Amino acid sequence: MIIETRTESPDFVGFVSGVDLKKDLDNKIVKEIDNAINKLTILVFRNQNIDDYEQVKFTKYFGEIEASGNKSNITKAQDRRLSTDLADVSNLDKNNKPFTQDDPRRIFNLGNRLWHTDSSFKEIPAKYSLLSARNISKVGGNTEFADMRNAYDSLENKTKNKIDKMICEHSLIYSRQRLGFDMVKELSSDEIKNFTPVEQPLVRKNKVTNRKTIFLSSHIGKIKNWIRPDSMCFIDDLIEYSTQLKFKYIHEWSKNDLIIWDNRQTMHRARAYDDLKENRDMRRTTVLGEEKLI
Ligand code: OGA
Ligand code: MN
Repeated sequence: MIIETRTESPDFVGFVSGVDLKKDLDNKIVKEIDNAINKLTILVFRNQNIDDYEQVKFTKYFGEIEASGNKSNITKAQDRRLSTDLADVSNLDKNNKPFTQDDPRRIFNLGNRLWHTDSSFKEIPAKYSLLSARNISKVGGNTEFADMRNAYDSLENKTKNKIDKMICEHSLIYSRQRLGFDMVKELSSDEIKNFTPVEQPLVRKNKVTNRKTIFLSSHIGKIKNWIRPDSMCFIDDLIEYSTQLKFKYIHEWSKNDLIIWDNRQTMHRARAYDDLKENRDMRRTTVLGEEKLI
């Protein structure tokens, strides 16, 4: 296995070759991959023509799978296209047809176009995400990643001190509200309980590298002990700052790419494509986080 980094900056992405994800992997390789994710944060594997079973098997080398269900999307169990081991990040319904424009599931999925980290709205937020490109759009549909360690390091000391002990409320309700999608109105009072905001620290530390990161996400709707409008202004400023080109990697997908990213140390977002016409079939498996942060 070879992991090559980019020659241009920023260099938080590794391109992995010489490993076949259809095959069983030995412990040494798994350790090497895991170490590389902690140090780099993003790994790209090209030409991995895997199926769901193989993706799940590969994911489980890194921990427990975070199930996709009614705490992370609004698709009813009987309407799912994929098993709950996978998050369906495509634009497709059960019959592999693109969602129509006003389908609430489509509008809900548009939330992926906002900068976020996966499952930051869960009490135990996600560790790694693995996204497999089974079918890609002809135009658009890139995924962008931002390195939240470099963003943290480059903050002025007074900002570091200000955010050091900050606690934020995260919920899918907040990120969807940014799109004008009011989940409180769209869902029943029972369903909405699945999306109750959770508190997370704004600064985290990676235990392997000891590097600090800004744990940002568009799921944040409030800073603890602040009012919401001030919270939104402050968080939006930080998101804008930490997603400057110098902290960013833009991935142009090829079919059968698989990317692993570390949600504890990066943010990401999907870019636009003609989702009413094209079939972009992306499937994500997620490694459960290991601890509650607060
Ligand atoms: C995800 C996600 C972005 C994309 O899978 O969690 O945000 O480009 N995907 O599909
Ligand atoms: Mn995501």
